Amino acid sequence: MSRHLVTAALPYANGPVHIGHLAGAYLPSDIYVRYLRANGEDVVFICGSDEHGVPITLRAKKENITPQQAVDKYHEIIKKSFADFGISFDIYHRTSDKLHHDTAAGFFKTLYEKGEFIEEESEQYYDEEAGMFLADRYITGTCPNCSNPGAYGDQCEKCGKSLSPRDLLNPHSQLSGKAPVLRSTKHWYLPLDRYQKEWLEKWIISHKNDWKVNVYGQCKSWLDQGLQPRAVTRDLDWGVPVPLPDSKGKVLYVWFDAPIGYISATKALFAKRNDPNGWEKYWKQQDTKLVHFIGKDNIVFHCIIFPAMLKAHGEYILPTSVPSNEFLNLEGDKISTSRNWAVWLHEYLNDFPGKEDVLRYVLCATAPETKDNDFTWKDFQARNNSELVAILGNFVNRTLVLTQKYYNGTVPARGHLQPVDEACLAAMKAAPVKIGDSIRAFKFRDALFDLIDLSRTGNKYLADTEPWKLHATDPQRVATILAISLELTAQLSVLMEPFLPFTATTLREMLQLKTVAWNQLGKSDLLPAGHQLGTPGLLFEKIEDDVIEHQIAKLAASKALNEQASKTLPPQKASTSFDDFQKMDIRIGTILAAERVPKTDKLLKLTIDTGIDRRTVVSGIAASYEPENIIGQQVTLLANLEPRKIKGIESHGMILMAENQAGELAFVAPVKPMDNGGSVR
Ligand code: 2FM
Ligand code: ZN
Repeated sequence: MSRHLVTAALPYANGPVHIGHLAGAYLPSDIYVRYLRANGEDVVFICGSDEHGVPITLRAKKENITPQQAVDKYHEIIKKSFADFGISFDIYHRTSDKLHHDTAAGFFKTLYEKGEFIEEESEQYYDEEAGMFLADRYITGTCPNCSNPGAYGDQCEKCGKSLSPRDLLNPHSQLSGKAPVLRSTKHWYLPLDRYQKEWLEKWIISHKNDWKVNVYGQCKSWLDQGLQPRAVTRDLDWGVPVPLPDSKGKVLYVWFDAPIGYISATKALFAKRNDPNGWEKYWKQQDTKLVHFIGKDNIVFHCIIFPAMLKAHGEYILPTSVPSNEFLNLEGDKISTSRNWAVWLHEYLNDFPGKEDVLRYVLCATAPETKDNDFTWKDFQARNNSELVAILGNFVNRTLVLTQKYYNGTVPARGHLQPVDEACLAAMKAAPVKIGDSIRAFKFRDALFDLIDLSRTGNKYLADTEPWKLHATDPQRVATILAISLELTAQLSVLMEPFLPFTATTLREMLQLKTVAWNQLGKSDLLPAGHQLGTPGLLFEKIEDDVIEHQIAKLAASKALNEQASKTLPPQKASTSFDDFQKMDIRIGTILAAERVPKTDKLLKLTIDTGIDRRTVVSGIAASYEPENIIGQQVTLLANLEPRKIKGIESHGMILMAENQAGELAFVAPVKPMDNGGSVR
């Protein structure tokens, strides 16, 4: 039995969490930890809110509240979402807590006193109007790597390159919008270049074969570029104050304090357990397996910078593994908070109450383990209906209902085994080890597929043996088939627990089965003959098309809003008087005939019934409408526009059209049929 310290990246408390967060770090870590616990291993699972840094202060500014108010608000929302989805942290701490401030300040002090830092005065960007230095996301400009004009001072989100503000082309302040000036300021730097030579490169290379390819590859490319000293302090007024004299207005860089948050959260956990020193063996004893679950934008911080800090401190272990996922996209587009292109966890639960496990299942099945992956609502529906309902749910339901029907819910005794029974038992015997090995190797998708495969085996077993046909003629055989099916159901309730914890609890209740250790599976029957089962019920229900269409429409609305917001619409025209407006005779008409105006691309000659007459109007709508498709269409007509000759045809009025940014035109028509000639006012 090993000791495990498992951490999941501390999310910034600057907004609610979405499916990308869940799929990236929290669901995989939860599956891993639940599996370790089911094996009786010694494990603590640590997380909390990252409450410092520019992401927080910018959000507070946007909402016109203080940073403390912002983190108080989002900490609670995030904490609740994780709890709702069964993410089983032993503690969900926060970095604005005093224990964390003391721990982070103490950590910095130790490095300072050991002489690890380079202290350097340098010129940095300053916003004269706002009266502050522009760290990280307070400054944007053009990325020198990919020319993205919206790159941040710490990173370009388009190409992923890590930047410092001085790298940006055409920099400007996020506060005043102005170009910044340079001012001198003192900061403390971690000499990563020195560590690279001394030990860091060797240490990373030693993990070439046991770290995920994407993680190792990213580290290697950092090393190949040559590490540079990295500032660990900032001129900001929100964060952990630098614990040195004469450092007023300076705080620890958020990426210096946040990972120390894992240590302070562990301390807080053991303080709560009345074992104030209990945290130390997790962080200081070499045989602890420290595993950081993160998203790919956090790799450098967890594989290079935090290990460098830990080693420089001297008392702590280094991570054993840093399983990082790639990104999850949504319906083919990058998930984005600012564009509201996301499925928010709290909104999902409003729309799908009681279906936490369905989302856990789909996110695990589509997890971006080795490459970016895509979440789509159609796939969500298909996986629910054809995997959870049709395979897992169906097998369990058939087994329980038949047992209820034939044996009043009492487990029957097995008789003589046939090859088909032996094959089913063999599949059951192999599954726990196979699934467990995949989980230990962070291959959660493979593990989940094997779980579903086992229930598929159960379904096939029932289909092959058809106990419902034998009940009258061979009751002994039926008893054997159902006893085996029930044993498989019980095993599934244990094996599904890391992935589908809520369903596992429901199923155990139906089976009247107590918690069983994973590593005990196969040693003795979980459901011996004579065991009385509880009441059977459905584990999953079908999701209908209209429910999915509603979600797709919700996203489409959000896309439309974004498109509108991103457009540079022409400003409002100068005022007009009501009298001038009244001079216009606008009324409803119907198109009676339409034909192209020869030798033109855009023009149609229309015959309009205006209620008062039939007249010819020439209209520039041929790029948007085919003449044969618009006969009978009601339109809005400016009827008293002076007649004009267009391409030799006299036009008596103008059809009003709506135009989008792409130049497409659409009729402005009444939403229900109106009499021709009716006025528009
Ligand atoms: O990327 C993020 O959301 C960071 N807040 C993750 C921090 S992880 C850890 F180091 F605290
Ligand atoms: Zn870039």
